[in-house]
Amino acid sequence: MICTSLKEDYLDEHQYRVSSYASQIAKRISPGLIEIISFTAAVHDVGKKSINNSILFKPGQLNQDEWVIIRRHPLLGASMIMRRVVKVKNSYKFKPSTIALAVLHHHERWDGSGYPDGQKGEDIPLISRIIAVADAFDAMTTDRPYRKALSKEDAVKEILRYAGTQFDPNIAEAFVCK
Ligand SMILES: [Fe+2]
Repeated sequence: MICTSLKEDYLDEHQYRVSSYASQIAKRISPGLIEIISFTAAVHDVGKKSINNSILFKPGQLNQDEWVIIRRHPLLGASMIMRRVVKVKNSYKFKPSTIALAVLHHHERWDGSGYPDGQKGEDIPLISRIIAVADAFDAMTTDRPYRKALSKEDAVKEILRYAGTQFDPNIAEAFVCK
């Protein structure tokens, strides 16, 4: 019971912050999409609900097998959305397939080195590219079992350092130029 609520709390808090950062980006580059981006970011990691806490909260580095399991979470999340296990807010307005696709690709990288499909550049859905920046910023600025959080200033530097490789450069700029 305690473990379940630990996971729920961690996911809810992480997704809430990512949704807030993603909305800030959307406001600058695509105001018409704020609502769908905010909702998608709020469920982007829902596939992690199916992953064991011993992997999710492992205090050390993950081994290869554990990485394989972790890397399934975008597909698991997309599938949960398509099967309506996750209820899509305003589904009359937002197609579950659009949200599922964005969730599926939120770990792709601009240079094609991400997963699950190694999509590149603008082939990656815009919502996924926005979530990728917001997600990385939140990951860097919160404590993890194996490392301390970076300051917001250092995290911004990291986002800019990887603009054009990991991140869509326009989105990275839009996020950091406040
Ligand atoms: Fe994720």
